[in-house]
Amino acid sequence: MANLGELASLAAIVVLAEVAILSSFAAAQLRPDYYAGVCPDLEGIVRDSVKRSMAKSPISAPATLRLFFHDCAVMGCDASVMIVSPTGDDYSLKPEGFQTILDAKAAVDSDPQCRYKVSCADIIALAARESVFQSGGPNYTVELGRYDGKISTTNNVTLPHGDDNLDSLNAFFSTLGLSQTDMIALSGAHTLGAADCSFFQHRTRGKDPSMNPSFDAQLQGTCSKQNFAFLDEVTPVGFDNLYFQHLQNGRGLLGSDQVLYTDERSRGTVDYYASNQGIFFYDFSVAMTKLGRVGVKTAADGEIRRDCRYPN
Ligand code: HEM
Repeated sequence: MANLGELASLAAIVVLAEVAILSSFAAAQLRPDYYAGVCPDLEGIVRDSVKRSMAKSPISAPATLRLFFHDCAVMGCDASVMIVSPTGDDYSLKPEGFQTILDAKAAVDSDPQCRYKVSCADIIALAARESVFQSGGPNYTVELGRYDGKISTTNNVTLPHGDDNLDSLNAFFSTLGLSQTDMIALSGAHTLGAADCSFFQHRTRGKDPSMNPSFDAQLQGTCSKQNFAFLDEVTPVGFDNLYFQHLQNGRGLLGSDQVLYTDERSRGTVDYYASNQGIFFYDFSVAMTKLGRVGVKTAADGEIRRDCRYPN
């Protein structure tokens, strides 16, 4: 049996280890029932609000999901993406995503119990899950307890590019603590929504040999009539694994999509997800949870924003 001295030093080590873990990972504060006491109906309120937004516009779900990625990938999941820039927003996030979050926030704050108690960062995380689930994807558990940041992102925006190769994509995602498998699963978000022709048109007319020639011809036609194409042309509003099947057929829209199949180091995972939607859904849920832990703020360096568009 251990003597008292040994027990005391063991306890000290455990405490020290806990302090180290807690201070290095603010994400340790996150838990699914974080608001159970103050806003017990939170998930239902956000669910209903997102449902209404999706009924209003088919762009709501893809735009909201992408908003979550951009929020977390730039300075952490702290709703800084929502802050109105005084110089005007210069990048391509669609207004429908912002509106979905503002409407969900208004719905939450219309409940007197919940008013001004739930962070915008958590509402984004919940609305992203709803966008996935109500489009037919997995209903994964969302960890909560993020605080909102106090500064905007405009000077700090570094995001992966639609022409990135596998090494660049991996390098970017590893700065978020995410693996290649996480990155491939998250790229499956491109089962929803669309991209402007400017992001892929330069790959057409035979310039990218990894593009299927009939897809190339089809995209030339699409972009002569409209300025966008769907990332998953068959089920653009359905969350499924067809995105990965398209990659197997050279029908990935962005260079960064198709490279996941062209590069032998990631092809096996694409094949796996293409043949097994359940595994894709599981890995996507795990990766979204990990993405949701990036750069989480605490009461010490964050706040619960009253209006998601402005710091308090
Ligand atoms: C792997 C690196 C990624 C690159 C290079 C990339 C790039 C892009 C580009 C260029 C667009 C088209 C934007 C436009 O036309 O305005 C887009 C759309 C989209 N992205 Fe990504 N993305 C990546 C990862 C992700 C991740 C991790 C998510 C979410 C988990 C995501 C979700 C989306 C969604 C849902 C759309 C459609 C948006 C809409 O229709 O409004 N993307 N992405």
